[in-house]
Amino acid sequence: MNILLIGGNGFVGKALIKEFKKYNVKVSYLSRSQNHSISIDEATFIQGDIFDSENIVINKKYDIAIHLIGTIKNKKLYSKLNTESVTQTIKLCQKQNINKLIYFSANGGFKQYLESKRNGEKLVVDSKLNYLIIRPGLMYGKDRFSSYFNIFPIKLFSKLGITFSKKVYPLPVEKVAESVVKAILDNTDSIIIEIIDMK
Ligand SMILES: NC(=O)c1ccc[n+]([C@@H]2O[C@H](COP(=O)([O-])OP(=O)(O)OC[C@H]3O[C@@H](n4cnc5c(N)ncnc54)[C@H](OP(=O)(O)O)[C@@H]3O)[C@@H](O)[C@H]2O)c1
Repeated sequence: MNILLIGGNGFVGKALIKEFKKYNVKVSYLSRSQNHSISIDEATFIQGDIFDSENIVINKKYDIAIHLIGTIKNKKLYSKLNTESVTQTIKLCQKQNINKLIYFSANGGFKQYLESKRNGEKLVVDSKLNYLIIRPGLMYGKDRFSSYFNIFPIKLFSKLGITFSKKVYPLPVEKVAESVVKAILDNTDSIIIEIIDMK
């Protein structure tokens, strides 16, 4: 099985690469810059900008693409990164005959952020590709030290039933990666994976 991570040099991409490696699944990651903490033995780097797909050189056949481009911090880029990059990824999948697209969406967050993610989901559903949508809350782990801030209050507020906190219930990034890789290797029939499925 060959997997292509779109925007895979980041926090979640790295966790997925480590998890796939356990099963000897071949992974490539496409992003504008290389992550030098990912070894050649773990994954192959493809340099490219999803908004400049004409100049992306792909020589292999991939079975699955996983979309990982997104932002919660930069409001001005919600539409571009969380939604329009999905349109570009779908075009790339069609051009490269990649039949399945996995989209990292979100389960909660600011209104406009969530809207941009739901718009991305709609594009995936309407794409005619096989698909799987992942809806994580906050993810934390040692590769993003700042991710440890707020997890304890959010977990506490979540247990108290406060809706916003419940919707972003934090999970270790490794646990999310484990659930996603398992779903792929088991060839799951599910089309959405929610926080509760990854706990
Ligand atoms: N982290 C969380 O807690 C969390 C929670 C819920 C949902 N999510 C979603 O999960 C996904 C992965 O999150 P993450 O934290 O791993 O994100 P991340 O660390 O920012 O990684 C995404 C990578 O995408 C690449 N990228 C950006 N623009 C690109 C472009 N035009 N072409 C190609 N690559 C591009 C960036 O690398 P370059 O700049 O080098 O291109 C970036 O490192 C995102 O969609 C995010 O919204 C994350």
